[in-house]
Amino acid sequence: MSQKSSKPLRKAVLPVAGLGTRFLPATKAMAKEMLPVVDKPLIQYAIEEARAAGIEQFCMVTGRGKTALVEHFDIAFELEATLRERNRHEALAVLEATRVEPGSMVTVRQQVPLGLGHAIWCARAFIGDDPFAILLPDDLVLSEQSCLGQLADAYRETGGNVVAVTEVPREHTNRYGILDIGLDDGRLVEVKGLVEKPAPEDAPSNLSIIGRYVLMPEVIGHLARMERGAGNEVQLTDGMAKLIGQQPFHGVRYEGKRFDCGDKIGFLEAQIAFALKRPEMAEAVRAFLKTYTDA
Ligand code: G1P
Repeated sequence: MSQKSSKPLRKAVLPVAGLGTRFLPATKAMAKEMLPVVDKPLIQYAIEEARAAGIEQFCMVTGRGKTALVEHFDIAFELEATLRERNRHEALAVLEATRVEPGSMVTVRQQVPLGLGHAIWCARAFIGDDPFAILLPDDLVLSEQSCLGQLADAYRETGGNVVAVTEVPREHTNRYGILDIGLDDGRLVEVKGLVEKPAPEDAPSNLSIIGRYVLMPEVIGHLARMERGAGNEVQLTDGMAKLIGQQPFHGVRYEGKRFDCGDKIGFLEAQIAFALKRPEMAEAVRAFLKTYTDA
């Protein structure tokens, strides 16, 4: 595919206003995006993935009770001073990765939970006239190259809108945004239509969107109409669907494995998969898993 001259991708929006009801009581007083996989909160995986894709500016769309997410990327002054006094260099290095460039992270509040499309619209002043990425921190991807990095590469090839997609079992189409597809080269697929959470019998394919997007700012104008879709929510998928035919729109079958950390089983699976990738833990994890699975 030929290279298109596109505006560079530097901005990312992270919707983090969700209530996390599926993880109560853990999320009663704590943001669900602070739940750790092994030892790192979900939100930090998302920020690291975005940075690896060249993102420099971040906007978290937050809500009440989410202040820990902001604290997490600030300097923990007392903690760092204590660690320095005690020569705890390794712990200090771990904290280093939680800092963002001064002024590179902003938050806006989604005051009412009207849906993902509404959450993205809340970030409109941050987005301005620029292309932007969206990362849903519940979707965690274990891959060689960052999943958003793979989308950013595709965006440089095709220009326009790009979403990460994967095949799901037919009976699960009602959990996702589903693509109607045109040309398909095995990696890149042309998007002809998008439907939010269709019943299996109505789904145009079993190719689903996962929580990684590169979108053009024009989507905001469509979201601004606040039309209600599936679940009576303002759906991002419906806003995106309006761009088809106006701008390039592609899906990318990314390399990697996605874990739905908004679901208890997916979250547990992510713990195991990420722990097995850690050289200092892998052997112990494999050994204890054996004791459970052999029982
Ligand atoms: C959202 C989107 C959906 C997408 C999914 C990916 O749904 O609306 O199109 O497939 O994220 O995780 P939610 O999980 O918020 O119901």
